[in-house]
Amino acid sequence: MRRIIFAFLSVLLCFAAACGKEEEQLEPKLVLGFSQIGSESAWRIGNTRDIEEQALNYGIGLMLENANQKQENQIAAIRRFIAYKVDVIAFSPVVEEGWDNVLTEAKNAGIPVILVDRDINTDKEGLTTCSIGADFYKEGVLAAEYIIRKADKLGLSEVNIVEITGTEDSTPMRKRQSGFMDTIAGDARMHVLESVDGDFLKSRGTECMKYLLEKYGDSIDAVYSHNDEMTLGALKEIEKTELVPGKDIIIISIDGGQEAIDVLKEGKINCVVECTPRLGQALMETALKLKNGTAVEEVIHPDEKVFSDEADVSLIGPRGY
Ligand code: AHR
Repeated sequence: MRRIIFAFLSVLLCFAAACGKEEEQLEPKLVLGFSQIGSESAWRIGNTRDIEEQALNYGIGLMLENANQKQENQIAAIRRFIAYKVDVIAFSPVVEEGWDNVLTEAKNAGIPVILVDRDINTDKEGLTTCSIGADFYKEGVLAAEYIIRKADKLGLSEVNIVEITGTEDSTPMRKRQSGFMDTIAGDARMHVLESVDGDFLKSRGTECMKYLLEKYGDSIDAVYSHNDEMTLGALKEIEKTELVPGKDIIIISIDGGQEAIDVLKEGKINCVVECTPRLGQALMETALKLKNGTAVEEVIHPDEKVFSDEADVSLIGPRGY
């Protein structure tokens, strides 16, 4: 499904309505083309909504396209943005490889490109200007540090972990895995039985957990899942067994959406590492700087927290996504 939203149209209408002058025109400060990955998770939907809202707040015209998880759709969207001569292009790359050609076309057209949420892998210089998104490696480290503390607290001598990973070859998948693995490597109690690809989808989380339970049964001590959606899917499968999630199996998730936090409060998830989808404000401010020729920061990481049963989870407020 292709969707283009000209948020600046709404800016014009609101402005005209507020002034009571139908004929008044307000030019957007710039036009930003944004290629979103898809709608695979509550996180992604919250991220899209935040970018739309912040475009309106900043008076920026937004052309937004949803790629439905396909790299070829993102490449086609970026080519359309170049053809429309937008001022700035931003995109969340579904995977890290394969962007050199289209980004060289954007560079040759003189349009600056901002990476949002995820990164690309390239040997070429100067294809992108700035990367705005979470420190995924740190998220993996924080998840691992939690499980090490939990093992200490429970006095466990062995911890058999299964990992449900996000989309293969995507930045969060690679870095959440390496941050986690590097951190548990120094602790001889930790054993990863298997890592399976859950593609950041709830349905895949269920399928992966079914497979893992059939193969390893109650020898699984912990599930490390790269996002809330897959965690919620995996929980459905665990709850079909006699194992009690949060007690017999330690559950660690990443994102911090409302549904997962509600389940954390019920005690069925032990730890959620936050990954905020609220990247819209930094994106709009960076786009404006690029348009004005002002220097931008190369990497912007938002502050993020860890929510876990180590603290009073009843105090966690509404999440908004
Ligand atoms: O790239 C961020 C990840 O993508 C989020 O953790 C996940 O929920 C989303 O699909």
